Amino acid sequence: MTTHRQPKSAIVGTGHYAPARVLTNVELERMVDTSDAWISERTGIRERRIAAEGESTSDMASAASRSALEFAGLEASDLDMIIVGTVTGDSPMPATAVNVQQKIGANGIPAFDISAACAGFLYGLSIADQFIRTGQMQRILVIGVELLSRVLNWSDRTTCVLFGDGAGAVVLGPTEPSDGASRGVISTKIFTDGSLANTLTIPGGGSEMPLTHISLDEAKNKVQMAGSEVFKVAVKNLTSASRAAIEAAGLSASDIDWVVAHQANLRILTQVASRLDIPVERFVINIERYGNTSSASIPIALDEAVRDGRIKPGQTVLMCALGAGISWGSALVRM
Ligand code: ACO
Repeated sequence: MTTHRQPKSAIVGTGHYAPARVLTNVELERMVDTSDAWISERTGIRERRIAAEGESTSDMASAASRSALEFAGLEASDLDMIIVGTVTGDSPMPATAVNVQQKIGANGIPAFDISAACAGFLYGLSIADQFIRTGQMQRILVIGVELLSRVLNWSDRTTCVLFGDGAGAVVLGPTEPSDGASRGVISTKIFTDGSLANTLTIPGGGSEMPLTHISLDEAKNKVQMAGSEVFKVAVKNLTSASRAAIEAAGLSASDIDWVVAHQANLRILTQVASRLDIPVERFVINIERYGNTSSASIPIALDEAVRDGRIKPGQTVLMCALGAGISWGSALVRM
């Protein structure tokens, strides 16, 4: 009797890119009515990166992608699909993934964007995982990238201090027979609660509210957030999505080697850690250096922890993210 091995996907390469310009909390003190103490105590953020003039979302995504491909020992021509999670694409049309495709030289393969804000990378990972599991595709580039500095209202202290620019990427490929049964993406779970859509928006610039001089004057093309409302939902939903992933895999909190969660607020991370009963020391945390880079935050943190040797082959990594939508999700991966 022939036994058919169920194909699984695995992360075979990671990469990230952060713009060179560092904007510190102390510099922000000179821009809005805030303080280094408030920002670092309430959020954990000390500095963030800001893209250079002329640097685009697809430039950052392409740099992260080249790094992930090199890590995987693959060429752009080896790819079967490109998925970009972003809410700050180069332009409304075409997709930013199209520009990435041209910049890295991966002509002919499907390339498209996912709009799930901070959960965009996990949504992309989930879609890529399905294509590889069904055997339809072999190697998929999943990118999380944001150039939020251009959609922030730099006179609104409740949002402008929180975000930063950056890009992260992974190459997903099929597991090899030599990998053993346990390696690869164990599960991905994605959710949306549209009843909370108004808590985090960029209201203008789409077809519902095309930009006019008036809407531009009112900064309708910039991020608006009901921060404390999002905070409570984030703690609750990141915990439930993480628990669902752990329980469905028949694992317990002590089986999780690392948690790579969306870096929105250090207090969210510590509260999720406590509810999951996973020591915060097992969370990969870099929010102090990057702020909230939305969909880029998980792949940036993952790449840093893989490259500095914290995350090792064979370890179990839990990822979770929540953002505008409200959309959220989790992924459980054995590296
Ligand atoms: N500097 C100084 N004071 C400030 C600042 C600032 N930058 N921002 C707000 N404040 C003030 C407020 O005006 C308020 O003052 P008041 O009490 O006199 O009215 C006070 O600080 C407390 O404000 P809160 O909003 O209640 O502060 P909170 O502790 O909730 O922190 C924050 C705000 C950091 C935004 C937090 O709510 C948060 O992290 N929310 C979640 C963010 C998130 O997860 N977003 C989702 C992902 S993003 C995406 O999808 C793109």
